[in-house]
Amino acid sequence: MIPFSPPRIDNKILEEVKETLLSGWITTGPKTKLFEEHITKYCGHERTICVNSATAGLEIVLSWFGVGKGDEVILPAYTYCAIANAVVRLNAKPVMVDVEDDFTISPDEIKKAVSSKTKVIIPVDVGGYPADYTRIYEVINDLNIKKKFRPSNNIQKEIGRILIIADAAHSLGATYEGKKTGSLADITVFSFQATKNITTSEGGAICLNLPKSMDCDEIYKKITIKSFQGQTKDSYSKTKGDSWRYDVLEAGFKSNMTDLQAAIGLVELQRYEDDMLPKRKYIFNKYYSLLKDKEWAVLPPADSAQRKSSNNFFMLRIKGADEQIRDEIIKKVYEDGASLNVHFIPLPLLTLYKKLNYKIEDYPKSYELFCNEVSLPIYYDLTDENIDFIINSLIKNVDSVLD
Ligand SMILES: Cc1ncc(COP(=O)(O)O)c(C=O)c1O
Repeated sequence: MIPFSPPRIDNKILEEVKETLLSGWITTGPKTKLFEEHITKYCGHERTICVNSATAGLEIVLSWFGVGKGDEVILPAYTYCAIANAVVRLNAKPVMVDVEDDFTISPDEIKKAVSSKTKVIIPVDVGGYPADYTRIYEVINDLNIKKKFRPSNNIQKEIGRILIIADAAHSLGATYEGKKTGSLADITVFSFQATKNITTSEGGAICLNLPKSMDCDEIYKKITIKSFQGQTKDSYSKTKGDSWRYDVLEAGFKSNMTDLQAAIGLVELQRYEDDMLPKRKYIFNKYYSLLKDKEWAVLPPADSAQRKSSNNFFMLRIKGADEQIRDEIIKKVYEDGASLNVHFIPLPLLTLYKKLNYKIEDYPKSYELFCNEVSLPIYYDLTDENIDFIINSLIKNVDSVLD
């Protein structure tokens, strides 16, 4: 069976993990701090805080910005549940908007959805393809939109406009107008969960890229404290010298990354740009060329001068298929020996969001894209033979099911 997204585990990773296990320190410590520095250097933003998932990172940042009851957060209907769930847990309202043909949030729909309660917009770089950040910033910097902004704390006053938090769970290494994700939005959150471009098994990172007038070092400290119980010192710093004494400033989260996780991430990141990312591009381009002449294949957006994807998976759509036909094709390819996937079930189709009164009819593009989407695997150890096998099985089964 060709799996959908196994991690790349080799001797380098095993050695680094072993070394960390035997180092006498396995939770947050020097490796995590080093990983934070390497992420900052790679993406070009100001500071990074590593956490134990992107979901935790998103919730911590929303909480730092003071998002709560009575506030609205705009996000795409077509995405994974992580961001909407975080907004709900903070007692704020997710305001869902529809997406464009490339699966990313529609700036025109954002414009229609902004109200005086909007505090944050969360674009998602679905599959690794960056959202349209220039158009999104044009919307929030429009004077009529800015006039609607009602700050309710000092951080919001200092920003003076809606905050953009990028959900870049899939898009480490992607670029938009020559800049890497991490340095495109005010704050960006990456995921290092097992299926992401680089993994730490579970993990995430918060990247600060706030307006220059804000003190990023101070915000780094505040968010680090917030992610560790609200405690002024983590376990590692408490053991240094005689400075064990700590204080607790707020009821924070317990979402710190461990050095064991960071050890994996350090190896992954070090070989990402020159080895792992080019391999992803190679696989994406191979799928693209093998499918481009198929009349039924709606291909995902290819890299352009403006946007370059990090190619987390290949978001194919099958013209003429509905949900049932798409599922049948996935089943048949699985029976042949390859695992495909679907990204994502739009949020209004999930029980929680149905109960909260969201209706899929309000998001026609999201539904249209979801109905016939099939994700093809992209990962380091996928071979040319695997790719040929997947494509041959797909073509055979699409032809027979659509016939
Ligand atoms: C678009 C998107 N955002 C956020 C997340 C959450 O990431 P994590 O599992 O690290 O919390 C995921 C996870 O798959 C995702 O696909």
